[in-house]
Amino acid sequence: MPGTDCCTAPVAASSAGSSGGTIPAAIAADWLTSVWDQNAGAYACAPSASIIEEVVGGWLKEILGLPQQASYAFVTGCQMAHVTALAAARHKILADKGWSVEEQGLAGGPPIRVLVGEHHETLRRAVRHLGIGTDAIVQVALTDDGTIDVAALRVELERDLEAPTIVSLAAGDLNRGAFDPFDEVCCLAHDYKGHRAWVHIDGAFGLWSAASTRFRHLVKGIEKADSWATDGHKWLNVPYDSGIAFVADADSHRASMTKPIINQGLVRFLDPNGDHDARTVEIIEAINKTGEAWFGATMWQGHARHANLAE
Ligand SMILES: Cc1ncc(COP(=O)(O)O)c(C=O)c1O
Repeated sequence: MPGTDCCTAPVAASSAGSSGGTIPAAIAADWLTSVWDQNAGAYACAPSASIIEEVVGGWLKEILGLPQQASYAFVTGCQMAHVTALAAARHKILADKGWSVEEQGLAGGPPIRVLVGEHHETLRRAVRHLGIGTDAIVQVALTDDGTIDVAALRVELERDLEAPTIVSLAAGDLNRGAFDPFDEVCCLAHDYKGHRAWVHIDGAFGLWSAASTRFRHLVKGIEKADSWATDGHKWLNVPYDSGIAFVADADSHRASMTKPIINQGLVRFLDPNGDHDARTVEIIEAINKTGEAWFGATMWQGHARHANLAE
């Protein structure tokens, strides 16, 4: 994402983070990616890219100590990892209230609240992009070391037990590198008087501490959260853009990302004898058999079609 706020916002003091470097192996991989130029949106279009994603996703979950069943998405940066993870959160916490945000939108739905400790501007931007609106953000009091005050969080949870709630935590916040008490907050937020909030972690920097035996204690309990956002273009020194979102509840992740509204089109092949479904399937199969192109078959309004974007 252009213009992240650490670069553009007026600041009173500077904060240090590794940004903008790259290591040779990473830039070589980046060049290969561009040269091969695969449409990595679907296995059928780019099997090699999909397999690489699968392997790397598994490695990352292992290295970061995240649940193995979690889904993941490679995105452009931690900003879009927030958007991805919070879209899944939005889906789930509204679905728990009997509201489908994908079908019904946000208007008229139960208002979401987002309880935050230290947070980066990109978290606020994600909340804006998702239509939740920054008025939904509630700053929870912090302790002297910059971590979320758990007693204050309890008070905020108590304030509206019924509200669909996201709690956003930081693993290594931008300014002081504070790590919130993940274990304690997850236990509290996941079952507060029978209500379950979604816990999201911004781990742009700090999630990688899980890979270090020396610093792993800082992320104790992260595996209990519902979603995690990080990127590879800071501490890992891979070229821009490289973000990763992880979501513990893969179904919510999938549900929030499969309602396409643009870049879609359907083709149907007409049969002179009127059996258009059979003709459509026959042509698709014949094309796919050649191996020259791959067409995805789908059903729409009870009829067979070719979808130009595959699941
Ligand atoms: C704590 C934190 N979260 C998120 C971001 C956004 O990361 P990206 O630039 O990859 O979108 C930053 C960027 O500096 C950050 O410091």
